[in-house]
Amino acid sequence: RRRGRRVSATSGHRSARIAAYRARIESVLDAALALPDPGTTRLREAMRYSSLAGGKRLRPVLVYTTGTALGAPLEKLDAPAAAVELIHVYSLVHDDLPAMDDDDLRRGRPTCHKAFDEATAILTGDALQALSFEVLAGGPTSDPDEAQARLDMIRLLARGIGTLGMAGGQAIDLESVGRRLDLRTLEDMHRRKTGALIETSVMLGAVAAGVRGGPVHAALQAFGTAIGLAFQIQDDILDVSGTTEEIGKVAGADAARDKPTYPSIVGMDEARRLAALQHDRAIAALAPLGERATGLVELADFVTGRGN
Ligand code: IPE
Ligand code: IPE
Ligand code: MG
Ligand code: MG
Ligand code: MG
Repeated sequence: RRRGRRVSATSGHRSARIAAYRARIESVLDAALALPDPGTTRLREAMRYSSLAGGKRLRPVLVYTTGTALGAPLEKLDAPAAAVELIHVYSLVHDDLPAMDDDDLRRGRPTCHKAFDEATAILTGDALQALSFEVLAGGPTSDPDEAQARLDMIRLLARGIGTLGMAGGQAIDLESVGRRLDLRTLEDMHRRKTGALIETSVMLGAVAAGVRGGPVHAALQAFGTAIGLAFQIQDDILDVSGTTEEIGKVAGADAARDKPTYPSIVGMDEARRLAALQHDRAIAALAPLGERATGLVELADFVTGRGN
């Protein structure tokens, strides 16, 4: 199960950098979720409960790592980093609902609808999504370049989570329960439901750094696509090989619910091979970035080497 965990000379720097980005996003999210509105105590508590309860924070870390690699200051990356995590948390809260995956455990704690109630969990997802776009839109600005960048980021995020992205992927996922998908459909489902938001995280970092086209932009797009797919394949693998303790959600839930996954369709060995293939594609795609790729290479290693 630990295959792919690479111990390198840079691993110390890696954990330090990732830890710093994680600490940063915690406080950015905490501030974004302060929500001074005494009229909605329960909803606000549920939003904070689900958003500030751990998680790997991979998507914000991708925004920070991509953006800083391209020269953006961290202050410019806080809004897109928070926006992608708020969307991600919304997707988890809804994904766990009885109408969807019906899961009781998330990030090692009761899921939102268990800790609160179903209606509150639905509204928590709704309000987190709204907050995400509010954060991305930002406050008033008279800088036309900044305004254009924000609009581009809003468009990117909206596309990543709509029918072509996350929501579409979730729809395919739910329609496919109990059915045997062919590998092409399975891959398409994974690219949409999980890959799209991960790719979007990379591209938001690029846009925030002013990179909207050219070879580096194309390279990052290919990188994001590949690690996005690798990430969901690894998620499927961990549902089989991880323990409930390790993954913070009930292990074996996919098989119990007859979910179409890489291990169920192609088997564990082939699933691991395909995750490694996407990992290698991701690294190869980064060639145009030269030395600026270091942080992203480490994240690609993390995506397939992770045990939770
Ligand atoms: C889990 O995502 C849901 C998927 C899209 C596979 P993560 O594994 O990133 O969950 P957290 O944020 O670390 O809890
Ligand atoms: C989740 O896929 C995808 C989204 C939440 C968009 P899963 O259903 O496999 O995620 P987990 O395993 O519950 O985290
Ligand atoms: Mg699901
Ligand atoms: Mg699920
Ligand atoms: Mg899963």
